[in-house]
Amino acid sequence: MDTRGATIVVTGGASGIGRAMAQRFSADGAGSLVIVDTDGDGAVAVAAELGASAEVLDVTDESAVIELIARIESELGAIDLWCGNAGISAYGGVELDNDTWNAIWNVNVMAHVIAARHLVPRWIERGGGHLLLTASAAGLLTNLGTAPYAVTKHGCVALAEWIAITYAEHGIRVSCLCPMGVHTPMTEADGELAIEVVKAMGMIEPSQVADAVAVGLANDDFLILPHPEVALYEQRRAGDRQRWLTGMQKLQASLIS
Ligand SMILES: NC(=O)c1ccc[n+]([C@@H]2O[C@H](COP(=O)([O-])OP(=O)(O)OC[C@H]3O[C@@H](n4cnc5c(N)ncnc54)[C@H](O)[C@@H]3O)[C@@H](O)[C@H]2O)c1
Repeated sequence: MDTRGATIVVTGGASGIGRAMAQRFSADGAGSLVIVDTDGDGAVAVAAELGASAEVLDVTDESAVIELIARIESELGAIDLWCGNAGISAYGGVELDNDTWNAIWNVNVMAHVIAARHLVPRWIERGGGHLLLTASAAGLLTNLGTAPYAVTKHGCVALAEWIAITYAEHGIRVSCLCPMGVHTPMTEADGELAIEVVKAMGMIEPSQVADAVAVGLANDDFLILPHPEVALYEQRRAGDRQRWLTGMQKLQASLIS
């Protein structure tokens, strides 16, 4: 897709990867840009910097999302690109309580279901639209130390694939962004093991993710991999799951010893 002149929404746009994507879209000549975040001060600051609009809302609140989509389309124009980027993590595994699991499930998966539920009919009617979901390399591989993150990011990738397959004939395109470690407040807040892993794999800057997004969107790529080596790791996992698991077990043991 061509982001020049486009109406673009970026959720989680107040910080990190979302902010960098918004900055890149703005530099590339986006038409109307909407920064959505629960962090009101952050959203307003990014919007002021870019001449964009700020919307303070929780992406898991379906009635707020319905109202937002309707208002953007009546006031700014048809939404060409929705970047479902807001995401959260929690350090831990099956011992984490249900409230924690449900909160991550709601933000990392259900928010995208909700957005798609109300965008897809509009896009079908108009003959097209582009959905970008920020998953993670954790959705193609795994993430040591953070079970709900690995599980929900797999769900996000699966949802992106399903929408891409189901609505292609209606001109709906989907991109699935799957970075490994990126220097953002999220990685700074991660648990020790997760931080060790992303450091070992090589951290990149949010602007580098935004560069990869610009190229991926221009090519209508489904998978956008700011760390290209993720494609090789995924092939290795699919090619010999047992060997891949053994390798991951060794990596985990080396990092916690
Ligand atoms: N940082 C990394 O290493 C990395 C790697 C792969 C994928 N990701 C993914 O990239 C996306 C952005 O993460 P980031 O690293 O920029 O983190 P970040 O914490 O800097 O930014 C996330 C933003 O999302 C907002 N947000 C969280 N829950 C929300 C909700 N319910 N409604 C609206 N806004 C909400 C936060 O306020 C924050 O501004 C996430 O989906 C994350 O899982 C990050």
